[in-house]
Amino acid sequence: MKLIHLSDTNIGHGNNVQRMQSLLDDIASLGDPADYLIVHTGDLNDNSNPDTMQQSRALLDPLAEKGWRILLAPGNHDCGDALHVDPGRAERFRDHFSSYIFGKQPKQFPVLTLTDDCALIGLDSNEGEMGFWEHWMAEGNLGTAQIESLNTLLDRPDVRQRKVIVYLHHHPFFDAFAVRADVADKGLLSHLFNWNTRRFRRLKDAYTLMQCIRDRVDILLFGHQHFGLDYSAEGQRYGIPLTLDGSSSTATQMDTDRMRYRVIDVATGKFETRFVGLQ
Ligand SMILES: [Fe+2]
Ligand SMILES: [Fe+2]
Repeated sequence: MKLIHLSDTNIGHGNNVQRMQSLLDDIASLGDPADYLIVHTGDLNDNSNPDTMQQSRALLDPLAEKGWRILLAPGNHDCGDALHVDPGRAERFRDHFSSYIFGKQPKQFPVLTLTDDCALIGLDSNEGEMGFWEHWMAEGNLGTAQIESLNTLLDRPDVRQRKVIVYLHHHPFFDAFAVRADVADKGLLSHLFNWNTRRFRRLKDAYTLMQCIRDRVDILLFGHQHFGLDYSAEGQRYGIPLTLDGSSSTATQMDTDRMRYRVIDVATGKFETRFVGLQ
């Protein structure tokens, strides 16, 4: 089976509806939906307004109706905005997209989807961030209860006998930036802004997560920071062979004319990057 990794499509911002449509058209041209599973690692929406969520569903539903399987993890923008998450909006998001988030599973995280050869485990990295003092800024926090459930899940024989794929929104490697924009790359102000606010976009319990999943997971997928880099070198320190940041699938690199997404062969761990031109 192959995974298609999408992330941070931020529907509701700019012309991301058209961009997302181009991406989905390209995905639909790949072949038989039965050979693929689409994993979206959050920030599907730019905000949680009902109009925006309807637009997103209108994009995903036709693909799902044609047999494409889509799994979705909640991002901070889905549950609030760039600066905070909100419990009420998080619930609205879960309700609106429950068929993509939970499928036929119980409506709680971690959520487990089993295929013939894969165990896919979705996490909600906003869940531990909903308390009054925590929910400011776009940090992630899985929370003790969710990581404990993950720990139990990873011991299950039906999980262990499959390839294990964990997906979540927030970036689990706070310091693992292979490339940092410097003053000459993006201007002094944006350099200073990004440098000083990075801690407010982190996953606060990344260390506990990595302690839990080390040597037990084959593929780790996430988004949020829009770096779009292959973090496998970092993940391999934790015994995780393939670790990918999905970037923002609807954004273009350096404002060039193409978007990108990854297609990952689960059996071999090899992946290719598909480029999609803007219309
Ligand atoms: Fe994002
Ligand atoms: Fe995000």
